[in-house]
Amino acid sequence: MSFAMNRILGLSAAFGLYDWWARRNLEQVHDTLIGLADLRDNAEILDVGCGTGILSSRLAETAEGPAVHGVDISPRMICVARRRGNRRNLQVEYQVGTAVRLPYPDGRFDLVCSCLLFHLLEDSDKERALREVFRVLRPGGRYVCAEFEKYPIRFWGGKLARYAENLIGAVGFDVHTTAAGPSITRSRPIVYRVMIKPE
Ligand SMILES: C[S@@+](CC[C@H](N)C(=O)[O-])C[C@H]1O[C@@H](n2cnc3c(N)ncnc32)[C@H](O)[C@@H]1O
Repeated sequence: MSFAMNRILGLSAAFGLYDWWARRNLEQVHDTLIGLADLRDNAEILDVGCGTGILSSRLAETAEGPAVHGVDISPRMICVARRRGNRRNLQVEYQVGTAVRLPYPDGRFDLVCSCLLFHLLEDSDKERALREVFRVLRPGGRYVCAEFEKYPIRFWGGKLARYAENLIGAVGFDVHTTAAGPSITRSRPIVYRVMIKPE
């Protein structure tokens, strides 16, 4: 993610704008992800690029089990996420960190989620981030994500790029489900994917 975008997102989180926007735009997207997540008792769950912790809080409220973990590159986002978790007395643990070097051991999680993360990563980081998700999942674990089908790689240049679908198999995932679902823009559909790390 560019330095400028990191600053914009961080400031919008600190001043409550991100939550205001997310409440209006992401609720159905999160509903869909939670539905696809197939939550099981005692599952170890990670939300990558967790932002202000809206999805991870909902996962913690829904799932019966150990703390839900969230990681985000933006300290301001994580600060808001921690406040949300404390206010609601939720079992959530947040860390500042990057998707391309996740601060967790191999095979730690049963379920990894991400929502609208990959379009913010530099092209050169997408494969590293997907490999990291694969690494921290246990064999048989699920990765559930929502991403724009096409997204602008430069806002002002208007160029469109596709989600790096070719990387999914290369990294080792089996695709379990690919589904269309609610989007937040008319022009750019969101695709929901469930990937499994083979046993
Ligand atoms: C569009 S927001 C979505 C936030 C959250 N998933 C949600 O559904 O509300 C994208 C998030 O990805 C984070 N992000 C961007 N690049 C990242 C990276 N390399 N590692 C971890 N998080 C990153 C941003 O800081 C931001 O919080």
